[in-house]
Amino acid sequence: MNRVTIYPGTFDPITLGHVDVVERGLKLFDHVILAVASNPGKLPMFDLETRLAMVRETFAQHSNVTITGFNGLLVDLAHQYHATSILRGLRAASDFEYEFQMATMNRRLDADIETAFVMAREDYTFVSSRFIREISSMGGDVSTLVPSPVLKHLQKAFNQS
Ligand code: COA
Repeated sequence: MNRVTIYPGTFDPITLGHVDVVERGLKLFDHVILAVASNPGKLPMFDLETRLAMVRETFAQHSNVTITGFNGLLVDLAHQYHATSILRGLRAASDFEYEFQMATMNRRLDADIETAFVMAREDYTFVSSRFIREISSMGGDVSTLVPSPVLKHLQKAFNQS
């Protein structure tokens, strides 16, 4: 049986914390659909095309990871890809409330789709995309926290060489 899961997020930008979630997901599922939400309400720094490009470059060597953008309901996209679960990472107890609400709402929208949680690697529990954007905009070094393709996009965005 081909077990497909869908990992949604804004990925503004993707971090090594997100990559760790995908890698853990691949231990449980045969295929991960990484779904980059357009999410205009979050006013992303990078446009959807750039976020997709960073994710595609990051997983270029992974035949078991499919990248897609989306702007509709997650459960509809899950059906489109024959995914029977949603994959999410938990970094700390503070993530739980938001994740609980989202998982419960998705279950209300489609009772057939389960949400599976994996625990983030300890040394990435403090990483978030917002911190990456902030630190990078101030010239700080985020090279140990993001995949290398993201670095060049951050440097370009902040006019750093
Ligand atoms: N490592 C690093 N960072 C992580 C992380 C991890 N393991 N897990 C979460 N984060 C960070 C993200 O970087 C992001 O940081 P930021 O806010 O500082 O930028 C934050 O935690 C939460 O982002 P993310 O996990 O990407 O969630 P999101 O709120 O951006 O995305 C969607 C939420 C896209 C999954 C959700 O809005 C969705 O499904 N939308 C589609 C519409 C829909 O179906 N709505 C009903 C759903 S209930």
